Amino acid sequence: MRLDKTKFALILLLFFLFTFPLSAQISAQKKQPEIERKVTLLLSKMTLAEKLGQLQMLDGEANGKFRPEHLEMARKGLLGSTLNVRGAEMSNELQRAALESRLKIPMLFGFDVIHGYRTIFPVPLGEAASWNLAAMEKSAHIAAKEARAAGVHWTFAPMVDIARDPRWGRVIEGAGEDTFLGSKIAFARVRGFQGDDFSANDRVMACAKHFVGYGAAEAGRDYNTTDMSEQRLREVYLPPFKAAVDAGVGSFMTSFNSLNGVPSTADSFLWKTLLEREWNSDALVVTDYTATMELIKHGVAADEADAARLTLNGGVDLEMVSRTVNQNGEQLVKDGKVSLAEINNAVRTVLRTKYKLGLFDKPFADANLEKQVVFNAEHRKFAREVAAESFVLLKNERETLPINKRTKEIAVVGSLANDKKNMNGNWTGDGRPEDPITVIEGLKNKLGNGIKIRYEPGCDTKCEDTSGFAKAVDAAKDSDFTILVIGEDGDMSAEAASRSNIDLPGKQLDLVKAIHATGKPYAVVLMNGRPLTINWVAENSPAILETWFAGTEAGNAIADVLFGDVNPGGKLPITFPRNVGQIPIYYNALPTGRPFLDKEKYTSKYLDVPNTPLYPFGYGLSYTQFNISNLRLDKNQIKPTENVKVSVDVENTGKRDGAEVVQLYIHDVAASLSRPVKELKGFERIVLKSGEKRTVAFILTPKDLSFIGRDLKPTLEDGDFKVYVGNSSDSGLEETFTVSRTAVVKKKLN
Ligand code: GLC
Repeated sequence: MRLDKTKFALILLLFFLFTFPLSAQISAQKKQPEIERKVTLLLSKMTLAEKLGQLQMLDGEANGKFRPEHLEMARKGLLGSTLNVRGAEMSNELQRAALESRLKIPMLFGFDVIHGYRTIFPVPLGEAASWNLAAMEKSAHIAAKEARAAGVHWTFAPMVDIARDPRWGRVIEGAGEDTFLGSKIAFARVRGFQGDDFSANDRVMACAKHFVGYGAAEAGRDYNTTDMSEQRLREVYLPPFKAAVDAGVGSFMTSFNSLNGVPSTADSFLWKTLLEREWNSDALVVTDYTATMELIKHGVAADEADAARLTLNGGVDLEMVSRTVNQNGEQLVKDGKVSLAEINNAVRTVLRTKYKLGLFDKPFADANLEKQVVFNAEHRKFAREVAAESFVLLKNERETLPINKRTKEIAVVGSLANDKKNMNGNWTGDGRPEDPITVIEGLKNKLGNGIKIRYEPGCDTKCEDTSGFAKAVDAAKDSDFTILVIGEDGDMSAEAASRSNIDLPGKQLDLVKAIHATGKPYAVVLMNGRPLTINWVAENSPAILETWFAGTEAGNAIADVLFGDVNPGGKLPITFPRNVGQIPIYYNALPTGRPFLDKEKYTSKYLDVPNTPLYPFGYGLSYTQFNISNLRLDKNQIKPTENVKVSVDVENTGKRDGAEVVQLYIHDVAASLSRPVKELKGFERIVLKSGEKRTVAFILTPKDLSFIGRDLKPTLEDGDFKVYVGNSSDSGLEETFTVSRTAVVKKKLN
């Protein structure tokens, strides 16, 4: 029987569908056949030395120029990528050298575009406080536009490490303590950087980092050991990375830490079992900076050759900065310690990535586009909006804020108020220290000469020298209102910047007390990259605005909020402890068998501090008031395959328009594992005009209700679930529903 072409194609398709497992089908779909063909052809022409060159990333920048020796390596096809080379002119020169090589394989340029390229947005922890996923996606897209125009193809962002310990300086780079919020933000930011196709001239490849568990460093000390059950790993730390994979993230980065005794960079469980097989991702895996070399210090590699062997056999593709693979790869293959297939696999991934980035077709940056796009007014305007949305109003007694614009004389105290460089925080990309708008400048931009501003530093951020306090106090006494700007500098919350004490630095608290003692009205503007234990300020100061490090437009955004042109609506993405002794303290903790009870001695508590935090996860005030009422569920009993619809009414009962973040939490009352007292499973940021009322609805799915069981599988068991809806993790309306596999049958029987 002659088969016509259509029938033959249909049979072929059915054969493919039934003979390949779904994951292989997705993977096949993800791997574009045309690219695979080109990669195979190119690979077949490469020498081993050229292959090892593709597995090497070097730090390319030296005082604004690339290292001259890299030109030579590029010309010989022995350097596949660099980090920190940027700017159309500089990157094009290095790229031209690479295209003179025998096989003309273009270079890949990576750079830490963490919260903006030249237009700097709030530090990621600050952006997370906006709970505005669309804004975070857009700011990542703007960062990508600027970076790609400047010749950067790959950003080492988003950092998606969950962190519950504010002693760890890198909390600043992530989205805080919560897995659900962190996963949503990871997805949004990857989409912002990459879009649907990161070969476009306004996109870059993103990098989910640092895989995995880096934020759980013991004692909050950077690079320290992490150790946890696989159940906790899968429930708390993995989901944001999986969200990045679901968003199509093109790369992953290893983490410096050892997890349960195995350094990430040598951990085939992470790279082969989890990423490749379980998640079916073909993402390029790059080590963190010299992390391969550090396998020796970790004590798992005897020497550099051993470190290279572990890295390659572990499933890692690209070595950043250290040269163990490049310099030992040939011998390792000769000795049979690393197979040529393993090398080819890694090179294939690098070449595939370069094709997906379009580098073979469009290897060069467009200097004219760079001039139009980088740091343009539209980007700075959006940076100002995002900054204001990232601010969290922690306290506002007697409506101290907003400040009346008719105020005649304002004192501005604190060196951070007149500081440009620190407004960018850290990981400042190509942001220039002279770019940001200071608080003083922001006030002048807003108020012009209509108001007298007297600035006194009081002290610098380290605040060891208090000789400037007297002048600051005089300024406060002589003025109608004082804006007191305190906190950290941009290097105090960063990589390799763990702090055993997270109070205000130096004698800043004494400065606050001196201003407070004048009895004149004042507001505290906080600038910091991590929670701080500001107990006295929280207790005594009339108003506190958390502004993190707000980036290029910091001063303008702070002026917008202080004078009420923008109503703050941010919510904390991380718990603020009362003291370091409470750490780790996070909202979604297990109940224990003896939950704290005020009158009960033998319950889980401290003798010297309450269990409650200074400020809880999800907390933030507004200049207006919102009333959340009428919590209702569409079912009070469901089968494990059904959804529950949760609705509330939200009304702006105040005089100002404003944004509220309505938060949905659950508690699985009795399960085979003890479950957190609350788990965020939904949120919606809504903007309501004064007097406006709206219904907000959430759908709780079986996936939302499931947890990672003792068998490490998603588990949903019969029983009661509590639902909480409110505007912080420590309050809210409550309802209950039941999951039952049997009750429905009973109903049918009687
Ligand atoms: C650093 C960081 C990592 C960064 C990399 C390149 O040590 O750990 O987050 O992307 O090196 O700068």
